[in-house]
Amino acid sequence: MKNYFFLILFIGSFSCKEAIEIEFKSAETEKYRPIYHFTPDFGWMNDPNGMVFHEGVYHLFYQYYPDSTVWGPMHWGHAISSDLVSWDRKPIAIYPDSLGYIFSGSAVFDRENSSGLGSIENPPLVAIYTYHDMEAEQSGATDYQYQAIAYSIDQGISWDKYQNNPVLPNQGIKDFRDPKVMPWTLENGNPGWLMTLAVMDRIQFFSSENLLDWKMESEFGQNQGAHGGVWECPDLIPMTAPDGSQKWVLLVSINPGGPQKGSATQYFIGDFEEGKFTPDDQLIRWLDYGPDNYAGVTWSNVEDRHLFIGWMSNWLYAQEVPTEKWRSAMTIPRELSLFEVNGTLLLQSSPAAEMKELRRKTYPLSQLQTTLPSEGVELEAQIKNEEEFSILLENELGEKVLITRANGLVSVDRSIAGQVDFHPDFPAVHSAPMSWESESIRIFLDASSIEVFINDGELVLTSTLFPNSPWKTARFSENLSDIVVYELNYED
Ligand code: FRU
Repeated sequence: MKNYFFLILFIGSFSCKEAIEIEFKSAETEKYRPIYHFTPDFGWMNDPNGMVFHEGVYHLFYQYYPDSTVWGPMHWGHAISSDLVSWDRKPIAIYPDSLGYIFSGSAVFDRENSSGLGSIENPPLVAIYTYHDMEAEQSGATDYQYQAIAYSIDQGISWDKYQNNPVLPNQGIKDFRDPKVMPWTLENGNPGWLMTLAVMDRIQFFSSENLLDWKMESEFGQNQGAHGGVWECPDLIPMTAPDGSQKWVLLVSINPGGPQKGSATQYFIGDFEEGKFTPDDQLIRWLDYGPDNYAGVTWSNVEDRHLFIGWMSNWLYAQEVPTEKWRSAMTIPRELSLFEVNGTLLLQSSPAAEMKELRRKTYPLSQLQTTLPSEGVELEAQIKNEEEFSILLENELGEKVLITRANGLVSVDRSIAGQVDFHPDFPAVHSAPMSWESESIRIFLDASSIEVFINDGELVLTSTLFPNSPWKTARFSENLSDIVVYELNYED
């Protein structure tokens, strides 16, 4: 609104050319536009999709509706990166059609051309996604979601839909979506594919030799884990445990029913044998205790490295957050690994090592208070007394965010962090139980978010924030040492 107001004033007193230049400038300094997080230029974005590393390029596809800042007919938007931290927006990859909207899914490189959709010389990138037939849903049908594929033989820039879609028809279940496909050795020893699919309140696993014909292997979870809402966006990941053994981690996003209300991602740790997932225990584990990390999935650029990006929002209020031209950002890229605490295996989400490439200026602190150099910063500190600490961020208007550890809880309080009243659940203190020592903290702060990583991601809280003026000062409790502030940007 503010930008338009200035524009009208200027149009009154300058020539048209000058007015256009002013509009361009204001877009560059758009309120809440992150400095180093991925956002679409305009329009609505939700889940990351089809994350794949192909011929030296990271691809980020995402749920996208270019014509509005609220959810609508879903496309796959597209961005690429060579360094994982700076993204180039590309033209829309996949458009909705008469079979439906293009919902979430994954992408694989079909190196041996098992699908026959490319050739051995030019194997295809294959996207496996869910069609959502809106008309069928509105007419009361229950079979309006089904799995389909599109393929690209020009490095993910242009996509053709497979002519005989769908490849996995619905079986009369309303929620039947978000296929995550990975290479897998079939029962007969042949190379093939495994699909992990969210089906209402459980996960189903399907196998295929060619990405086109799918056979159900097993299902998991109807009586396990958190069940406050529908299960979505699953991901099955083989991981090496600290003792060197192989474990399988199953991510399952759930909405609503997260620990902070609304959307969140839970995970299970167990074994995957003969097409069947068996959890080690009945514990409910959460990937991130903040309110704003949802529908995230992993991908790999080298073996046994598990990169993760999530959608930095929550379905509770995602369509009401006070950005104007676009809605939602992705989290920073993270790297998932397993660690053990008090005999329990847990998932660690560390900031991807590439995030250090964004450090432009370094400010080591000798005092416990500082002025922040930019809206895009990383704050780093060691924690001397592991039982408690606090960091307070404040702006010129007296709006605040408080990050604390006390009474066995790590908390982020955004209840007076600026614009909070666009939804009753937004202003809140979000806490996570932590029963082990906190030794270090890294905070990634951007124009409209904060991501807190304790002990390099043993505990994570991700929150969106909408201050009325940028965060200006940071104050650290006395038991924090080796404090460093980094100015972050991907531009030099
Ligand atoms: C998760 C989700 C997915 C679905 C997509 C639709 O946020 O609901 O289950 O495929 O969003 O945009």
